[in-house]
Amino acid sequence: MIAPHGSATLQARYVQDAAEREALQAAAADLPKITLNSAAAANAVMLGAGYFNPLPGYMNKADALSVAESMYTTGGLFWPVPVLNLCESAPDIAPGSQVALCDPNVPGQPVLAVQTVEAIEELSDDERELIVRNVFGTDDPEHPGVATFRGQGQVLLSGPIQVLNFSYFPQDFPETFQTAYEIREEFARRGWQRVVAFQTRNPMHRAHEELCRMAHEDLGTDGILVHMLLGKLKAGDIPADVRDACIRKMVEVYFPENTVMISGYGFDMLYAGPREAVLHAVFRQNAGCTHLIVGRDHAGVGDYYGAFDAQTIFDEQVPAGALAIEIYRADHTAWSKKLNRVVMMRDAPDHSKEDFILLSGTKVREMLSEGKAPPPEFSRPEVAEILIGHYRD
Ligand code: ADX
Repeated sequence: MIAPHGSATLQARYVQDAAEREALQAAAADLPKITLNSAAAANAVMLGAGYFNPLPGYMNKADALSVAESMYTTGGLFWPVPVLNLCESAPDIAPGSQVALCDPNVPGQPVLAVQTVEAIEELSDDERELIVRNVFGTDDPEHPGVATFRGQGQVLLSGPIQVLNFSYFPQDFPETFQTAYEIREEFARRGWQRVVAFQTRNPMHRAHEELCRMAHEDLGTDGILVHMLLGKLKAGDIPADVRDACIRKMVEVYFPENTVMISGYGFDMLYAGPREAVLHAVFRQNAGCTHLIVGRDHAGVGDYYGAFDAQTIFDEQVPAGALAIEIYRADHTAWSKKLNRVVMMRDAPDHSKEDFILLSGTKVREMLSEGKAPPPEFSRPEVAEILIGHYRD
């Protein structure tokens, strides 16, 4: 199986041994407590699950700035997005001490992880904005990722963590949430060596479905990992349980058995387009995937990124050999009225725009909220039915 990023074996930060975990949980009761913001909690879940291998915890200021500017840590590890624990202030914390990190997303705010705080540093406004511009490619306050990032405070607590649980994800998504090491184990059980990952934050429409099929066939993979985001999204995006139901139904009806593995990860969407695509590649490699599909406007929002910026970043800014996972670059994909099937536009040079069925996300949401199913060329009827139910309720 493909090696993880940056180390020979996967080093997940979840405390695997039950007795050790209970002891740490008990010790955490006497530690100073900090309630994390949702992004830092999601980082802890990703570190715990092995997706952020080989990072031991949250980055310090020098690494955050270096990663933002060059996609390398000061120690020379390739990494595309700062992994941070930012807060407004940390008055009672001394460098070198341990703190209990409490989960903002679970009632009662239980301890999610224990951090050994190596440094407490403040980002200046200029440093914060340097991160914003490099990671998000914009400083527009309307960009949802930029707005979230700026709202997190500027005090940075860095240092390694030990993770005690996976937040609300195992309870809310018992069938779907998996760690990177569980995915690797399942690939091994299935005998899958060559696996293409499909990142998604949407119910899968026909273009998504066909992208998976095309990549699977073109690459000759053993299987497809449909790996959905289960964390927080901006208002208007479809909730994870509804997406999960759509994807499960679509796979059950339209894919042969043992071609698709459905799985999910606990991270909040950054909407960082190209940089997030690179992060997606890193953590799919950690989960044992050999390929990642990157199509049109991957991890994008609004008009902030060019349609294929998330592909060109791999050619222009990711140095050869920095990652072992390979990118399957997909062109805009849609139903061709001429050919009566879903095609990539680059494979249909004789078509004009009118020859395709193209619906914007807004248009689809409008139709669904009026109880109308999108055309079957756009959405499978089984998927449309689940979505209409969601919009009705
Ligand atoms: S994302 O934010 O998770 O990237 P989405 O779930 O819509 O959003 O997309 C999942 C993947 O499918 C991404 O790689 C995206 O580029 C690709 N994709 C979605 N729709 C299309 C399309 N019509 N044509 C080509 N690629 C697409």
